Amino acid sequence: MRQTLVAGNWKMNGSKESIQSLLSGIKAGMSDVKNAAVVVCAPYIYIPMVAEQLADSEVSFGAENISEHEAGAFTGEISASMLNDFGTEYVIVGHSERRSLYGEQDADTAKKYAAARKAGIKPILCLGESLEEREQGVTEEVVARQLDAVLELEGVESLADAVIAYEPVWAIGTGMTATPEQAQDVHKFIRGKIAAMNADVAEKVQILYGGSMNASNAKELLSMEDIDGGLIGGASLKAEDFLAICKAG
Ligand code: 13P
Repeated sequence: MRQTLVAGNWKMNGSKESIQSLLSGIKAGMSDVKNAAVVVCAPYIYIPMVAEQLADSEVSFGAENISEHEAGAFTGEISASMLNDFGTEYVIVGHSERRSLYGEQDADTAKKYAAARKAGIKPILCLGESLEEREQGVTEEVVARQLDAVLELEGVESLADAVIAYEPVWAIGTGMTATPEQAQDVHKFIRGKIAAMNADVAEKVQILYGGSMNASNAKELLSMEDIDGGLIGGASLKAEDFLAICKAG
């Protein structure tokens, strides 16, 4: 049985004040979250504060990005060891916004995934097709290509300590959630591809869905066989909404 995982991706949102109150709200509601493990992924600069506020709680935290390099002349970048310094457990790699807005290629994502693992940080590897790609019927090819870059560099066994998030780009921030069947089809494809290489890893790896998941559609999505949780953007910014998703898990 795979444990449900609900992760918030705050993206570039929040302030000291709003994050403090968001975390207090989440912590206060955690006693009603029975089945899901909960993670919040924060902008780098707030990580020390988040670490401090979550020190006495079961909520874990992560970063939204990571450098593929260990150290050196990479102005503005944050390394895995820096994230480790603050006890960061998770990091999102290959989010579609990094890919589309900052030119991150499959190979760059794979290197970030490797850097995180080397430091003992769990990567949340994002995969997903654009609307154009879905309309062209190449969703599986795109997701397979994105996953292959990681498998070639780190091997299928690496997924035993990682999380995958299927996030169709057309569903992110648009309110156009994938139907539970559409999401399940791709999740099943991803798990099947992994199973062809290692059945044990495929059985264990958590595959989250992301893209306009909210309090009203979470239960149905999370009830699908291969959907093991959610990566939540907009709805992770309000404690009440985020907790409602966590409780649906
Ligand atoms: P939304 O939940 O706002 O659609 O964002 C999803 C996402 O990109 C999470 O990484």
